[in-house]
Amino acid sequence: MLEVMKIKPEMTYDLRHRILRPHQPMEASMYDTDYQEGGFHVGAFIDGTLISIASFCPIVNLDFSSGKQYRLRAMATHPECRKLGAGRGVVKYAESILTKNGIDLLWCMGRTNVQEYYERLGFKPHGEVFDYPPIGPHIVMVKKLL
Ligand SMILES: CC(C)(COP(=O)(O)OP(=O)(O)OC[C@H]1O[C@@H](n2cnc3c(N)ncnc32)[C@H](O)[C@@H]1OP(=O)(O)O)[C@@H](O)C(=O)NCCC(=O)NCCS
Repeated sequence: MLEVMKIKPEMTYDLRHRILRPHQPMEASMYDTDYQEGGFHVGAFIDGTLISIASFCPIVNLDFSSGKQYRLRAMATHPECRKLGAGRGVVKYAESILTKNGIDLLWCMGRTNVQEYYERLGFKPHGEVFDYPPIGPHIVMVKKLL
């Protein structure tokens, strides 16, 4: 059974490194926003094993009309546990926290090869595709929460 809960920042590092930044040193998977005030991290577990992660931070560096926005970072599900709803479960869990706190909008820089995943979760593309070295093409994806 899938269990979703808040987790500590350092619990995300292993999956981030293995799935999102395998060709970079572990330090590249420790983000400057990890301990930002108001930020939090969510994980999905199957039988006690962490299989999906994402991080949510109140960083404001894109100019949306919304007053209160959060950024989703480092979304990843273990390759053997994909398409089981874990990623959706993590994002929904975070959204319930964010809406309770009056957050209007959630956005992320999504890899274009998973744009459809974000669209299935209700995000919409915003602006043009851009390169995000060394990872590759990304697009900003935005979801109105309220
Ligand atoms: C993208 C990723 C996080 C999805 O995680 P997941 O746990 O498999 O996602 P879910 O099972 O919750 O999928 C939710 C929905 O999106 C769909 N979906 C999942 N991955 C998809 C993909 N790669 N492309 C298109 N649709 C996808 C699912 O079929 C499901 O659709 P539904 O509406 O029929 O239910 C996972 O594939 C992953 O870790 N990819 C590699 C890392 C990555 O690219 N992360 C994003 C960085 S921006």
